Amino acid sequence: MARERAVTWAWAVLSGLCALASCQVQQQCPARQEIAPCSCQMKKNGLDILCEFTDQQHIDNAMSVLKGKSLVIFYLKLRHNNLKKLPGFVFFGLDIRHLTIHNSSLSVVEEASLSSIGKMLTQLDVSQNSLTSVPSAAYKNLHHLLILNMNHNNINSIPNRAFQGLDTLEILTLYENKITTVEPDAFVGLEKRLKRLNLGGNELTSVPQKSLSILDTLKKLEMQENQISRIQEGDFEGMKNLDSLGLAHNKLREVPARAFSHLSQLNSLELDGNNIVLVDPSAFAGLEENLQYLRLGDNNIHTIPTPALRGLHRLRHLDLRANNISYIAEDAFTGYGDSITFLNLQKNDIKMLPALGFENLNSLETLNLQNNKIMHIPEEVMEAVTDTLRVVDVTDNPLVCDCELQWYKNWIRNLRDKDDEMMQKKRTVCIMTSEHREYSLQSLPLDKMHCAVKAYDPINSRSTSLLTSSFATLCLGLYTVKCVI
Ligand SMILES: *[C@@H]1O[C@H](CO)[C@@H](O)[C@H](O)[C@H]1NC(C)=O
Ligand SMILES: *[C@@H]1O[C@H](CO)[C@@H](O)[C@H](O)[C@H]1NC(C)=O
Repeated sequence: MARERAVTWAWAVLSGLCALASCQVQQQCPARQEIAPCSCQMKKNGLDILCEFTDQQHIDNAMSVLKGKSLVIFYLKLRHNNLKKLPGFVFFGLDIRHLTIHNSSLSVVEEASLSSIGKMLTQLDVSQNSLTSVPSAAYKNLHHLLILNMNHNNINSIPNRAFQGLDTLEILTLYENKITTVEPDAFVGLEKRLKRLNLGGNELTSVPQKSLSILDTLKKLEMQENQISRIQEGDFEGMKNLDSLGLAHNKLREVPARAFSHLSQLNSLELDGNNIVLVDPSAFAGLEENLQYLRLGDNNIHTIPTPALRGLHRLRHLDLRANNISYIAEDAFTGYGDSITFLNLQKNDIKMLPALGFENLNSLETLNLQNNKIMHIPEEVMEAVTDTLRVVDVTDNPLVCDCELQWYKNWIRNLRDKDDEMMQKKRTVCIMTSEHREYSLQSLPLDKMHCAVKAYDPINSRSTSLLTSSFATLCLGLYTVKCVI
């Protein structure tokens, strides 16, 4: 142990001196024909070697040319090859920092294939191959590995201690495998450093609670695109630093009480694309202090789940798109709406907006009501939010051209002063029933409609009613106003 440390120390000093004396200059690619069909480029930190569309024999040959030259191979990329087996000692005598074996039919990784590069390897990518299990024995000496990518393989289970030895690992991704089982001690050894874990695109039917419970350094957990049909209180116990949880595109029908109550640091929760009908009033208990992003789109929710959302006083981004919401209660946003900057209600079944429904949305910047069944948008609904709004989408609604809609014209004119181009391009129309034609909301013929025109005050950026009495002889304002008697 002491000797090993001394050697490591000596090596550190040597490489330090080496860096000072620019030993890097001696790093040089071998002659092109020596390693063909592989190719080599010099990069700042070492060589970048690429071998594509070739086989075991040519790769072995290239490796033997590179051996014993104290070269730093910063990247070794083997892609689209025929490399069913990674044999023992294939990289012996090489210093490889980032190794990629991608789309190469790899199904066997022999125990001694990677151990020789364990001291230097920080990234290993074996994505898009034919692995049916985690090659644990080959991984166990990779004591400096930070990132392990096993996406797009055929792994069907993660047995106990599958990653033991990878005690420095920070990112593990297993996206798009065929995982049905994760044993209780599957991640033992990863509990000190693991920050991101991707189990998305697998065949899990429940949260592998036991295995996850030791991962108290984990920040991001992705389990989207699985078959999870049920979650319950305690499922996420132990992951006390979790910042982001992805459960989109599963089979959840319900968000039960206290399902996430152990995740007090959670900032972002994705539940979109499930089949959620029911959100318990205590569904988000425990998330009050940190939750900012909540995605519930593409579910089957019938009303804004206000009781569950109340108390989420940090919530900024609420996405309820493509549900079956037909009705917004007056108090839909009371108790938590103050911090919301982004609200998406597009593709629902909303017919009416309640007069004071948006009153608590004091920070709202983006409001999406596209593709609903709204015919009227009363001015008083919007008045509460026109100060802060920068984007409103009310396209694809059966809007009737009426005087109430003039808030839009005023608001967008005000926005133009702020140089907001994105909104100006949106073509929002209403239907003038008497003429059987459409008008753009931006060019509503207010006088033809006999509307009492309200001017807007660009300084206070709020529309002010100039005309309140029916005498209507006093015509002031910034714009030509047609008086109505
Ligand atoms: C995978 O590699 C094969 C050659 O072995 C190639 O024909 C195929 O296009 C590659 N697939 C992808 C998705 O890159
Ligand atoms: C949407 O809700 C209505 C009742 O509000 C119901 O009749 C309808 O079946 C629901 N649609 C779906 C797809 O569940």
